[in-house]
Order: sequence, then structure tokens, then C-alpha cells
Amino acid sequence: MKSEPKRYLITSALPYANGPKHLGHLAGAYLPADIYVRYLRALKKDVLFVCGSDEHGAAITIQAMKEKTTPREIVDKYHALLKSNMADFRISFNIYHRTSAPIHHETAQAFFKDLNDAGKLIQKETEQYYDEVASTFLADRYIKGTCPFCGYTEAYGDQCEKCGTSLSPEQLINPRSTLSGNPPIKKRTTHWYLPLDQYESFLREWILEGHKDDWKANVLGQCKSWLDTGLQPRAVTRDLDWGVQVPVKGAEGKVLYVWFDAPIGYISATRQWALEHGKDWEPFWKDKDTKLVHFIGKDNIVFHCIIFPVMLHIHGNVLPDNVPANEFMNLEGDKMSTSRGWSVEMDEYINDFVHKENGSTMVDAIRYYLTSIAPETKDSEFTWKGFQEAVNSELVAILGNFVNRTFVLMHKLCGGKVPPLHKWDEKGKQIAEETRLAAEKVGLLIEQYKFREAQNEVIELARKGNRYMQEKEPWIVAKQVNESGKPTHEAQIIIDNCIHVCLQLTANLTILCHPFLPNAGERMCHMMKVVPRILEWENAGKMGLLKVGYSLRPPELLFRKIEDEEINQQIEKLKQKSAHTTMNSPTQAASHEEEKKKDIIQFDDFAKLDLRTGIITAAEKVEKADKLLKLQVNMGLETRTIVSGIALHYQPENLIGQKVVVVANLASRKMRGIESNGMILMAEDKDGKLQFVHADTTGGQAVS
Ligand code: MF3
Ligand code: ZN
Repeated sequence: MKSEPKRYLITSALPYANGPKHLGHLAGAYLPADIYVRYLRALKKDVLFVCGSDEHGAAITIQAMKEKTTPREIVDKYHALLKSNMADFRISFNIYHRTSAPIHHETAQAFFKDLNDAGKLIQKETEQYYDEVASTFLADRYIKGTCPFCGYTEAYGDQCEKCGTSLSPEQLINPRSTLSGNPPIKKRTTHWYLPLDQYESFLREWILEGHKDDWKANVLGQCKSWLDTGLQPRAVTRDLDWGVQVPVKGAEGKVLYVWFDAPIGYISATRQWALEHGKDWEPFWKDKDTKLVHFIGKDNIVFHCIIFPVMLHIHGNVLPDNVPANEFMNLEGDKMSTSRGWSVEMDEYINDFVHKENGSTMVDAIRYYLTSIAPETKDSEFTWKGFQEAVNSELVAILGNFVNRTFVLMHKLCGGKVPPLHKWDEKGKQIAEETRLAAEKVGLLIEQYKFREAQNEVIELARKGNRYMQEKEPWIVAKQVNESGKPTHEAQIIIDNCIHVCLQLTANLTILCHPFLPNAGERMCHMMKVVPRILEWENAGKMGLLKVGYSLRPPELLFRKIEDEEINQQIEKLKQKSAHTTMNSPTQAASHEEEKKKDIIQFDDFAKLDLRTGIITAAEKVEKADKLLKLQVNMGLETRTIVSGIALHYQPENLIGQKVVVVANLASRKMRGIESNGMILMAEDKDGKLQFVHADTTGGQAVS
């Protein structure tokens, strides 16, 4: 048995401040952490919940290039957005910090210096990829090439997003710089390395022995495969100008690797919080009685289970007690991806559902659905239909309905006060017992990071409440009236007993649902006119929480139904957004196409295509669309206007006379106000550049 921790330090992965984050992120690293933390607070534990924006690394500089601005502006803009989104979803961080803050730079530098001074880092001169055109060393993310494991041509220098393998740039086949498109050269440079290979036995013992029973199978599996492959020294510095300066003389122009500084962000956030609250930060990171838990998505496992723990271990800090990583959440049959436009951004949801109405019910609605499909053991699937189903048939029809009926009947049949319990009958005792059991189970499941099941237990308890009320039928019993038209004495006793039990159950549901549905929980407290102290977990499972004779407020709406129209709109919006993004980014579209194996088609399907040759006779840029060109294509008897997403690959003036193959019978479509009649066939070459597919004819011929 482990001893009871003195304090809890809970972290959620620091999101990159390079753009909005989607509901998959919310479900993966933020919502489960928030549920866990709210539960711990209800247990009156000493708990600190930290997070913040990850503001370094290529994710930021690449976004700055895309938006034609500076990294500073990017992080300021998206840090503000992420911070407000997190608050809107009621993610109850004690601090949401940022890694561009001076205290973070100091903390990360001191950490590095400590390791370096203690001789724990190795310095090595190596050759690294360098882009001669851009005169800069290339961060891993700036190099693309073919994955040696799965053959995907768009793999990054640090990871193949198709097969998920972590890579080093040297492993890529046909590497190319994403800055210039050219193959990079090798150039000598010095860097500091964390000798992970020296810590293999420490890691094996700590993870594969020490945590074999309490870490999730998906997490242990990844760790084991890393350890079995063998660990290599890992460079922890980079030749870049955006990041935390390496605090060593002679290391000008070098910064800490983003994955070295970012997790130290948990420490600097703790320090900042302590500073603001007059507290001591050190016990959180130095006293072994701290229980540290990292909530992350599966793509972060190696960093939180291998690399950061080695850093913490060498530095003499607390190690994580658990890293309950989630798998991924897909969306309507495809991988969620902001860059491909196939996503629901947290910000979009807030704008569409929360800010437009008294939206706190809709925050709980999405929290509920995301938890009910949390990808705890395998990838899961978000669908708008599923969202509607879950909200309407569970939240509204079961939990909302039970609480509402209880309050309506209490006002109608018991004078708006908690009625006395005249006698415990069998069914009432059963409900009391079920409540006690549910409280126990919910707590246990949360402690095991099984939030999905835990939440389901809450709904099950409400379902039992509904059944109990249905069996007791107080509204029918109330029809047994005496001469004055009031329920008879016997009838009133039955009514009082039932409503009393239902109200006590409601008080329990309030405690149990609060970690998952904080808005509903608070609203229920308000309706019951109780102070938040009732939410303390030690009250859960008890039947006497509401005093007899206490008058309660009228019911309020806890959840609302979701109409077909609303979800149809969202599905339509999703399709449009992804079509728009794809059109504006042909390379991405192409690589995604490759990912999606297409079904076999019959000859008849093929015969439907009218492919014709043509010659480009005019080309110009489309205003305000970086990637689009407006082309005139001579197709023999006619000249067509076609809008094509190739502007990043070709200058308009070089296109005149280019022979092309056109899908001539594609339905016409408006892009940026221009009607496009047909589509030009392009093929992506090994460097990701789009090449024309053409035949040496005069134009207008059918292709077969
Ligand atoms: N920014 C990283 C990502 O989004 C996560 C960083 S987690 C931290 O994948 F531990 F490094 F902070
Ligand atoms: Zn791969």
C-alpha cells in the first residue's frame, strides 16, 4: 500500500500557442484532469492544478511564417485565446501560465545549468541539416521526407504522423527543407545531449516494475517498446533564435530544445502560482510525498514517461506517480486535424453554443459527451449525432428530468419545502443503499482514471431515481383527496416519503455530478439553497443532507435538448471548412488522400470522368488567396476558367503554354467569387511539389 500523499500536483500538457485547440485536445488532456482535480478538491486534498501555453519550438515559428508575422505576436494572440477557451470550458487550473514568461526562462536555464554543471549532459559536435538558401540550421519540424517505416512521403524530421513513429531527421529518406523546398546540406555544430542510454535500467525498474500494475496498458506498451528499441542520447539544444537561450558562454544563437523547456513549464507555473499566493513551491517538486500526475494525449507519452522523468530523476525531483495518457478522438469518421479543417475547435464551439445563449448548460453538455466517449483505452469517435443522442436521451431525459420532476412535485405537493420522511420503506432503503454504493464507485473509478465509467455511474443513479419515482407515482397518489380537495393523510405520507427520498438523492447527484458537470452542480446547489460545502465528498452517499422543512427554490433548466437543425448545421459547417482548407492547400490535400486508401471503382465509374487535354493561355493570382491561381485553359473548341490551388508551386507567368489534363465534366464551383469550370490534374512528386500531368497534344482531345 502506498502512503497517503501530502499534496497533489496535477498537470495538463501545455498546448502549443500556435492556433486554436480542438475538442479532441479538450477530451484528451484537459477535461479528465479537471474532473480528477475537482474530485480531489471535494475530498479536501491539498491540490494544485497547473498548465499554460507552450510558446517555443517550430510549431510557433512555422505559424508565424504562415501568418506573416512574428513569433511574439503569434504566442500573444493564441495564449490569450487558449486561456479564455479553457476558462469557458470551466477547466479549473490554479494557474494557466506561459513559457515565454521570464520566470520560465530562468527556471529552465537554471535546470539546464544544474544538469550541465553536474556533468550530466554530454557535449558533442555533429553534422546537422542546414538550409543554404535560408542560411539556417533546420529544426526537425522544418525537414520533411519519406518515413523509413511506412513510406509516407510527408513525414516530419521528428515524427511520422501517419504511423506515429518518432524519428530523427537522419532517418528520413529524401529529406527536404520546408523553408526552401531544397534538399538540405550537412553542417557541423555543437550541441548538448541528455544521455538517455545511461538511464535504461533506472527506467525499466521504475516503469516496467514499479508501475506495471497502476499505469494504463497503452502507456506501459509505448514505454516498453521505447525501452526495447534501446535509448539514444538526445540533443537538448537547437540552433534557433526563438526559445530559451542556452545559459552557457559560447552558446550564443542556441536555445533549449522545446521538449526540454516545455515540461519545465510545469515547474515554472508552480513557482509563479506560489509567488502570487505567498506559498512555497519547492515541496511540490522536491518532497517525495507529492503525488504528481501528468494528463496528456498519446503523442506525448515518450516525453512524459521517459525524457522528462530522466531529467527529474537526475535533478533530484519528484517523479510522476501516473501518466494517464489518452488515445485520440476521431471526428465523423476521420482523424481530427485543425490544419486540414477537419475539427471542431474549442473556440468554435464556444462561439456557436455558449456565447450565443445562456451557455453554461451547453458547456456541461459537451463536457458530458466528451467524457462519455473519452478515448481512455482506444481511439474513439465524436459525431454530432452522437452528441445530440447523449445530451437528449441521457442528460436531459435522465438526470435533468429527475431533478426537474423532483422539484416540480416538491413545490406542487409539499409546499416548496423538504417534506419529512415518515418511514423508510423497502424501496426507499434500496435507493439509499444504491446511493451509498454509487458514491463509493464513482470515487474509486475516478481514482483509477476511469472517468467514462465514473460518469456513467452518476447517470445510472439518476436512472434509478426516475424508476423509483415512476413506481411511487406521487402525482397519482395525490388524487386521493379528502372533502377539502387536499390529498388524504395517508396519501400525503406516501408523497412526503417519496419526495424526501428524491430530494436526498438529488443532493447526492449534485455532489457526484459536480466534477463532471460543474455548472449543473452549482445550479443544483442554488436550487437547494445550500452552500458549496455540501459538495464535499464525505457527504456523498448520505441521505440526510437536506433538512426537513427547509424551503427550496423553484427548478431551473439544467440542460436543454439539441435540435436536428443545430447538428445538421454543424455537419455542414465541418464539410465546408474542410473543403475550403483542402482547396487552399493542395499538398496537404494530396498527402491526406494518400493516407485515405480509396475504394475500388468499377469501369462505369471511371467512364463518368470526362478527361481532356488543354493548354494554359492565361494565369493570374487570386486576390487574398495565397494558394489560388485563376487560369484560362484552351480546350480546343472552348476556353475555360479554372481556379487551381497551385500558386505556391508555380509563378503565373511561367504557366503560359503549359499542357494539362482537365477533368472537364466536374460540376462548376465558386471560389473567392470566381466560377471554376473543371479541375486540373496534378501529381505530387517526391519533394512534395505539384507537377502537371499532361499529354503532348494540341488541346481538346479526350483522354482515355
Ligand atoms: N505542446 C506540446 C504538444 O502540444 C505539449 C507539451 S507538454 C509539456 O504536444 F510537458 F512539454 F509541457
Ligand atoms: Zn511512418
